Amino acid sequence: MVVTIDLADLADARASSLERARARTLAVVGPYDDAILRRQHDPLMSPLVWDVAHVANYEDLWLVRALGGPPTRTGLDDTYDAFKQPRRDRERLPLMTLAEARAYGEDVRARALDLLHRADLSSDGPEPLLRDGFVHEMVVQHEHQHVETLLAAVQLLPPGEGHRLDPAAAPAARSPAVTELGSGAAELGSGAVLVPGGPFEMGTDHPLAYDNERPCHVVQVGAFWMDVAPVTNGQYQAFVAAGGYDDRRWWGADGWAWRQEAGLVAPQFWQRDGDGWAALRFGHLEALDPHEPVQHVCWHEACAYARWAGKRLPTEAEWEKAARFHPGTSTSRTWPWGDAPADPTLANLAHPALGATGLRGPAAVGSYAAGASAVGCQQMVGDVWEWTSTPFGPHPGFAAFPYEEYSAVFHGSGYKVLRGGSWATHPSAARTTFRNWDLPIRRQIFAGFRCARDVDPRRIGS
Ligand code: AVJ
Ligand code: FE
Repeated sequence: MVVTIDLADLADARASSLERARARTLAVVGPYDDAILRRQHDPLMSPLVWDVAHVANYEDLWLVRALGGPPTRTGLDDTYDAFKQPRRDRERLPLMTLAEARAYGEDVRARALDLLHRADLSSDGPEPLLRDGFVHEMVVQHEHQHVETLLAAVQLLPPGEGHRLDPAAAPAARSPAVTELGSGAAELGSGAVLVPGGPFEMGTDHPLAYDNERPCHVVQVGAFWMDVAPVTNGQYQAFVAAGGYDDRRWWGADGWAWRQEAGLVAPQFWQRDGDGWAALRFGHLEALDPHEPVQHVCWHEACAYARWAGKRLPTEAEWEKAARFHPGTSTSRTWPWGDAPADPTLANLAHPALGATGLRGPAAVGSYAAGASAVGCQQMVGDVWEWTSTPFGPHPGFAAFPYEEYSAVFHGSGYKVLRGGSWATHPSAARTTFRNWDLPIRRQIFAGFRCARDVDPRRIGS
């Protein structure tokens, strides 16, 4: 039987996924004037309008020039190339206004769609960049990743300037029993599950995955305990209240030095509120929900909490195994819950079905029991990026594709791996193999963590 794919439908689907990415970008920057858009809100972040023009310039590189077209406009590559311009210097660049960036993006888009229409994107095409539509998917994921970066910059706006997000829909209801959840292997009341030791398949050979997720390879991971849920605001507050930020014992050497230098006393955006804490969220001071995963902690803070709690961060391989290994079949699945695509009942991601931006904010732990992994871990995908203990490096057999600057140049430079995606991550850029990385001092991103623990050798045989 010959399977025919309707090429016109596929072209429409490709055009609309690009269109939806742009709609998210414009929805996030829409409320702000050019003065705010071109301001540097943090030395580690770009002015908002830089990202808007950068995604258009990236699309020009990969969907216009890489497909044989002439540059849509000349003279822009230096300004909007992430590697030529360190973030802290971007405010001094001759940046476009939002209207200019938007018009540039529309020009690029018209040319890209025209070229895509004529390109051979089949699975057996001659050009690896185009095969299975790889470069199209790369550009879509790129823009969605920058939408999350834009949101992290918007979150830095001072009170009165930041606009509340327009939540798409309330997350699923919380199951209060999260600490009792898990399979028979759960340690009663600890909220942790035992992940069995042995080999597991890490990474992927999926044709649309990023180079850093490839290839699929077998790793040995010994048995370990993994928490069912990420650490919550309530749990983290206990660490703060116990003097965790002033106790050298819990911190690594670099972490302690940074804690001293930066004067860290609590997660970014937390403010004292009477005896407790409130958090500044998109320009508004809000009560902290003790059941929501803690956000805006850096890797050093995550490590310190874990040590205080008698636990540790999981390695990247442990994280991936807890997210996708099925002990019954000894196979690795695509998503924690299996192979069905992510939907709003399974994971708290920025689902397109929820509206233009798909954003609904973090959800209390226990809200996505239906999306639990085979071993019983919840909210592995969505809610908050989770720090792992592992420095960002190549999987064995890694080959840079299609350019060194996506991943390879970051290998071995002290970046730590984060996994799982956040409530602000589009489903196209979230999966159990997706690898994010960042500086161990970074707090602006929507990152939290969950803890792991060694298995006590006296209790578990072999
Ligand atoms: C994978 C999120 C670390 O934002 O630096 C955006 C993604 N790469 N443009 C980043 C990315 C090129 C990247 N992270
Ligand atoms: Fe980029």
